[in-house]
Amino acid sequence: MKIMEPNAVHDFYGGVITGTAVKTGVKRLRDMIGAYKEAGEAEDLDRVMYEVYSFENGDPAQAGNLNWGLTVMYPELVGGECNFTRGHVHADQSCAEIYFGLDGQGLLLFMDQDGGTWAEKVRRGSLHYIDGRWAHRLVNTGDGVLKVGACWPVTAGHDYQWVEDHPFPVRVFKKNGEIICI
Ligand code: 6PG
Ligand code: NI
Repeated sequence: MKIMEPNAVHDFYGGVITGTAVKTGVKRLRDMIGAYKEAGEAEDLDRVMYEVYSFENGDPAQAGNLNWGLTVMYPELVGGECNFTRGHVHADQSCAEIYFGLDGQGLLLFMDQDGGTWAEKVRRGSLHYIDGRWAHRLVNTGDGVLKVGACWPVTAGHDYQWVEDHPFPVRVFKKNGEIICI
């Protein structure tokens, strides 16, 4: 039997996924500034807020295939508000997702189709089930980098418009080191 290295060289805990099938996205503050409540005028818009690596396996049209990825979020504050992902619901709401905490401290915000909102704490070793009908957003509440792995069906897609039309009713701030959800 031939024993091979993983077909993508990956080191989740080190925050690295490489390989020919990896796509990387970078979100800078300029891409997110409108979403923050109290952004000041002197913000550095070049700040990298988060990076998303996704390893896309096999035929993307083949239902049942899975992608997996890694989100790396920096401990940035904007007007005291903790760094958060854009957030989305899956375009195909029959597609669920699993998140797993790898490093750092965060919150995973959920919102159901009726606007019901709740959160789970994310930390190294935590595992989170996301129903396909639930909008999901990560927030870095820690003082270090938050790294979260994910696995989702290749056919899930992302519906960002839904979250823009139904904004999360909760914001997470850090004031004097204390996390405040408003
Ligand atoms: C997905 C995952 C995940 C997510 C990132 C960035 O469905 O692909 O939920 O990879 O895309 O954490 O979050 P946003 O896509 O909301 O910016
Ligand atoms: Ni998702």
